[in-house]
Amino acid sequence: MMARFSFTVSVLAVLASVGHAWLPSVDDHHAGARKLVDRNGFSLFNDTTFGHEKRWLPASGKIRGVNLGSLFVYEPWIASNTWTNTMQCTGSGYNSEFDCMTKLGAGTGDATFQKHWNTWVTAADFDEMISYGLNTVRIPLGYWMDEGIVYWDSEHFPRGGADVLRTVCGWASDRGMYIILDMHGAPGAQVAQNSFTGQFASSPGFYQDYQFNRATSFLSWLRRFVHDNNEMRNVGMIEVVNEPLQNQGSQTQYMRQTYYPAAYNAIRSTEQSLGITPNNYVHVQFMNTYWGSGNPQQYLSNNYFAAYDDHRYLKWSPDASDVSHAGYLRVSCHDNRSGPDSPTIVGEFSLSVPDNVQWNSDWAPSNNVAFYKQWFAAQVMSYETYAMGWVFWTWKSELGDYRWSYRDAVAAGVIPRDLNSIASSGACNGY
Ligand SMILES: *[C@@H]1O[C@H](CO)[C@@H](O)[C@H](O)[C@H]1NC(C)=O
Ligand SMILES: *[C@@H]1O[C@H](CO)[C@@H](O)[C@H](O)[C@H]1NC(C)=O
Repeated sequence: MMARFSFTVSVLAVLASVGHAWLPSVDDHHAGARKLVDRNGFSLFNDTTFGHEKRWLPASGKIRGVNLGSLFVYEPWIASNTWTNTMQCTGSGYNSEFDCMTKLGAGTGDATFQKHWNTWVTAADFDEMISYGLNTVRIPLGYWMDEGIVYWDSEHFPRGGADVLRTVCGWASDRGMYIILDMHGAPGAQVAQNSFTGQFASSPGFYQDYQFNRATSFLSWLRRFVHDNNEMRNVGMIEVVNEPLQNQGSQTQYMRQTYYPAAYNAIRSTEQSLGITPNNYVHVQFMNTYWGSGNPQQYLSNNYFAAYDDHRYLKWSPDASDVSHAGYLRVSCHDNRSGPDSPTIVGEFSLSVPDNVQWNSDWAPSNNVAFYKQWFAAQVMSYETYAMGWVFWTWKSELGDYRWSYRDAVAAGVIPRDLNSIASSGACNGY
């Protein structure tokens, strides 16, 4: 890969500046906007192709990324071996970071999570991502990374994550990758009984003013942290909350009406107080209308540099009622996820299929490599054609199932090492 890097001393000078903020291929175009370049001055988002729709050329300007799942928000189902055997979060009722910290106590717990952070993703992972042509990481975060807003007497979370986030983002920035930070775990938990919130809450406690206020404090803190640390310079997007309730009831209505504008304003007012100019604002990202919480734009008075997140799991979608290989390809080959919200990134998707069929001979990963390869190609072709690109869930797992692990899928020959080969794969011929 090093041979692809073209050295120019003048471009290196650009690296000295801090605080990037734009969607690659869009704002690179604005006069005065900064370039997304790695430490060798190579731009993964090559703006010379923008406007020509050459989406399958190298450096096409489309997001091709992976989520760093289970790093800062541990999801035991993704890495149950480490959870049980290394971290000793074993036993019934230890379903989340909160539960694990309750069991281990602050001292042992902090050291245990520190060890996890230092081993789950390393600089070598980023080299591997670059070698596969990936240009983006999305990093799920919990609000507790801002230690000033945690109620330490009643909320049990590991301390010290921000320093590790800085290091991890430095690895991504050095390699010219675009970084999306997402508030994955919201104060009070945005959904019940799901470890992705960091806690296994019996009910979703997020939808009230004091929790919204803590969340906006977190976003202001995060925006300042991005500005203050050179390692964070390739952060271009901050998502205000991951996967809130999927209904249009009073709680989600109140969230869209109250929290969404407040979250947008918190990030913008932080930027203004830091003297950041509009060219260097981050994108503020919301789950899109398709997610099911309602129209994210309805109550925004300003959507300058707003962006939208689509999570596309056919596994759970009524759009894929024909659970067959052909049925899946028919949906994915024409899957326009842009909808009413633009720009949209497909920020999560996988190769997993419904629980009740996933180990049948028709769907088991070991006997269906050709299908999964074709389906991956179909998905990313649509997500690049209709949307701004894609971010796979997730980079690695301990499941032994490549349908949830990008690197395992590459190893299995399901995801090509050369993503540009997909355009001519014919994966959607006849669909
Ligand atoms: C962008 O792509 C063009 C054409 O492929 C190439 O000549 C140029 O060096 C690339 N620029 C960067 C910054 O990578
Ligand atoms: C995708 O859907 C959006 C919204 O319905 C529409 O505006 C857009 O033209 C569609 N894209 C294509 C390429 O058909």
